Parts: sequence; structure tokens; C-alpha cells
Amino acid sequence: MLRRLGCVLFCSLVALLLCCLLSLKERTPAERAKAHQHLGALLRPQHNQCPPNLAIANASLSLPSRHRLFLTYRHCRNFPILLEPSQCARDTFLLLVIKSQPGHIEQRAAIRSTWGRAGSWVRGRQVKLVFLLGVAGPVPPAQLLAYESWQFDDILQWDFAEDFFNLTLKELHVQRWMAAACTQAHFILKGDDDVFIHVPNVLEFLEGRNPAQDLLVGDVIRQARPNRNTKVKYFIPFSMYRARHYPPYAGGGGYVMSQATVRRLHTAMEEAELFPIDDVFVGMCLKKLGVSPIHHAGFKTFGIQQPLNPWDPCLYKGLLLVHRLSPFEMWNMWALVTDESLKCAATPKPSPEGRGSGLKPSIFSKVGLLCLVSPLVTGFLGFLLQLLRLCFSQFGFSFLGELAHLLHLRLHQLDVIPGGYRGLIGSCREKGQCIETTGSSAPTDEWWRLPGRLLMQFSALPQELPTRSGDNENEQSSQL
Ligand SMILES: *[C@@H]1O[C@H](CO)[C@@H](O)[C@H](O)[C@H]1NC(C)=O
Ligand SMILES: *[C@@H]1O[C@H](CO)[C@@H](O)[C@H](O)[C@H]1NC(C)=O
Repeated sequence: MLRRLGCVLFCSLVALLLCCLLSLKERTPAERAKAHQHLGALLRPQHNQCPPNLAIANASLSLPSRHRLFLTYRHCRNFPILLEPSQCARDTFLLLVIKSQPGHIEQRAAIRSTWGRAGSWVRGRQVKLVFLLGVAGPVPPAQLLAYESWQFDDILQWDFAEDFFNLTLKELHVQRWMAAACTQAHFILKGDDDVFIHVPNVLEFLEGRNPAQDLLVGDVIRQARPNRNTKVKYFIPFSMYRARHYPPYAGGGGYVMSQATVRRLHTAMEEAELFPIDDVFVGMCLKKLGVSPIHHAGFKTFGIQQPLNPWDPCLYKGLLLVHRLSPFEMWNMWALVTDESLKCAATPKPSPEGRGSGLKPSIFSKVGLLCLVSPLVTGFLGFLLQLLRLCFSQFGFSFLGELAHLLHLRLHQLDVIPGGYRGLIGSCREKGQCIETTGSSAPTDEWWRLPGRLLMQFSALPQELPTRSGDNENEQSSQL
């Protein structure tokens, strides 16, 4: 009897052990992520342990409340992880680190099923996608985020409040995560969740570069002045930053870094005092390291400026990153860019500065002159036709007046084409993108285009042009 009982016990012990072994073997990365979540949940009660700095709070009563809040909690730099994806694979080439927010479920869905889709359009390189989140209110509920994390294994969330001024905390914490779980990634691309990233173009750009050398490429902003207007989101009081200019920095919409730069940035960030604007903060750390960011015209962190057509898929084919797309626009653009039947004229791909990009528009170049002269000629002709029409109608030659009017209308239809600007004697876009502004990253409209445009408007004054904007829309959709 006893022996039998012993046998039963032994057998069940063996069975239990076997089960354990099997279940261990079947743990997928997602499940491992789940295990991490439990750890996160255990750590959660810690988060109120960082007390506010009341002396600073009292001393900064004159500042806007957000700035006060920032200063009061600036010394709090350690927050636990709530949700975490699995570690990077050994041969990860590019890590896409996307700043998101708990509520941006649609944005994440759009990215996952377009340019962020695992394995899609990647040229034999291992690419990993991670979203960075803080904590924001009760919506969406934590269970939903946990489910999203379990399903997609790409959520990295910390226990600090989601706030514009807390983006620097994200910067610091993602550095720590990368140092712990993704040291092997050769390159890192940081961006917002409303950017369109042309992953193959990014990979092509990185091909053959050495991850052990310093590299930070993006839309570099130089000589930016701190905003001293208290009403503006980016307001920075003298007490927080004294110098006239910020150091050069890459616009936070998106930039790419090498492994070496990420590592050095991590040490610099751990030592630096937090600054509320995250991309400027990175710029400050870069300056300390003596790394200068490189400007690349393919990073459109201010979006695509007029008069280029922001919805021209051919334009996207040559770029690396475009800022400010809604989820719907992302889907749309993805469908257009990946359409095999899309035929585009060969456009020169933008390249980093200092490599003879050839895209700098100069009024003294042939293209620049064309862009100056063409709208001027067209505008002047329009003006003449308008005058003629007035004269003819005044003196009773209404037929001739109508003729002049018709000619004027045709001329006006020439005015704007999708993605460019066309005058009587040539079109700018097709002749080599004279509208590109590189070098200065502030979105500026070229002054030399202004006279032509003014003349056009002036010549359109005294009559009722039928649905001009409608015309343009039709023209655009037919070209798409
Ligand atoms: C700051 O002000 C509060 C209330 O006005 C006061 O209770 C507190 O002692 C002050 N703290 C410091 C460090 O001055
Ligand atoms: C940043 O997050 C911390 C922790 O949740 C919070 O105490 C602080 O107020 C936040 N900062 C801002 C500026 O909202």
C-alpha cells in the first residue's frame, strides 16, 4: 500500500516536472514580456516615493504652472517599467524607437500595418519596432495596453505622466532600456508616431556605415533662439537657459543615430540636468560630447512645404522621413508608395550636407532663375490680358473682351500644378526641385518666388474666377 502511494507520488512529481519543462520551452517573447509586466506591477507602488522639491516650487511661483511642475520634479529621474517588449535579436540592424502615447492606438495600428510592418520591404536586415509610452489618465485602461503589449510585443511603458515636458524622461529611460536590452542594434531611429518612415531608404542610407563611429543625422536646426514668450508651448525662461542660442540639434520628429553615439549619449544624459525640450536636450548632450549632428534634406520634420504637394507619392519615394501624417494619411500614402504601377520621373535623392547635395536652390542657378522668371512672365501676361479685357468691354468690343478673359483663365490654370509651380516658360518641380530648401531647416518660403506670386494674384483681382480651387483638386487627383 505504502509502496503504491509512493509510486503515485513519484509519478505525479515526474509529470509535474515534465509539464514545467514543456511550458518553459514554449514561452514566446510575448509571454516573456508578460512576465516583465508582472514585475512592473510589483514595482508600481514605488512611484510616489520621489518627493517634490518644495524650495524650487516656491521659488518659481512666477513661472507658468507647467514649468513649475517640471522644476519641482526635475530631480526625479528613476521610474519603473510597466510594460516591456522582448529584447532585440542578436543581429538587429535598425531599431525604430517611436514616441507614442497610451491613447494613440490608431497611430500605432497604422504604423504596424504600414512602414513598421515586420519583415515588409526590409532589405534583408533585421528591423525592430518599439513604442515609448508614459502614463496618461484612465483611457485607455491599463488592461487594454497590456493586451496590446502581449499581442504585438512592441510597447515600452514607464510609470511617469505623459506630458510634453516629460519627453526628456522618455529620452533618458529609453537609453537605459537600450543599454540593458538592445546594445546590439547597429543604428537607432527615433521618431514621433505621426511620421512616415521610408525604411528601405533609411537602410540604403545606412548601408556600409560603421556603427562604431559617431553619427547623428536628421533635420538639423542651428542658431535656434529660446522662446521667451510665456504664452508659447516652447517658452523657456532665462532661469532655465541663459545663452542666446540653443546648440545645433536634430528636430525631434525623427533622426537616426549610430550605436556608438547612442552609447556615448547615454553616459552624457545620465550626468546632465534634464531640460524640458527633448530634442534640444539631446543637442546639449551632443555638444558636450563634441559630436555635431549632420543635416539631411531627406528628413522632413516640418512636413512637406508648399508649393510642393504634400501628397505626391513620388516625392515620398526619395525621402527618408516625413512628419505629421494622420493614421488615415499614413495608410493612404503607404498604398500609393508601395503601388508597383506608380511611375515617377527620376528625381534626385536628397543627400546629407557637405556631400555636394546639389539641391541647394540658388537664384543664380538655371533652375532658380527659371523659378523666378517664369511666374513673373506668366503674371505679367495675365495682368495685360486683364487690362485688355477691361478696355475692350469698356469700348463695346465684348467679344474681344471675352477672348482675353478666356486666355487669362487658361493662364491661371497653369499657375499651380501638383507638387510644383508652373509658369508659361517652364515648370519648377520637374526641372530639379528648385523649391527645396536645404541648409536652413526653418520652413521658409523663398523670397524670390514672391513677386511672381503677387503679380498672379493681382492680375486675378477684378473678376470671378470660377472654382479655381476646384480645378486644382481635379488636376491633382487625376495626376495621382
Ligand atoms: C513653500 O511654501 C509652502 C506653502 O506656501 C510652505 O508650506 C513650505 O514650507 C515652503 N517650503 C519651502 C522649502 O520654502
Ligand atoms: C512628469 O512625470 C512625473 C511622474 O509622473 C510627474 O510627477 C511630473 O509632474 C511630470 N511632469 C510634468 C511637467 O508634467
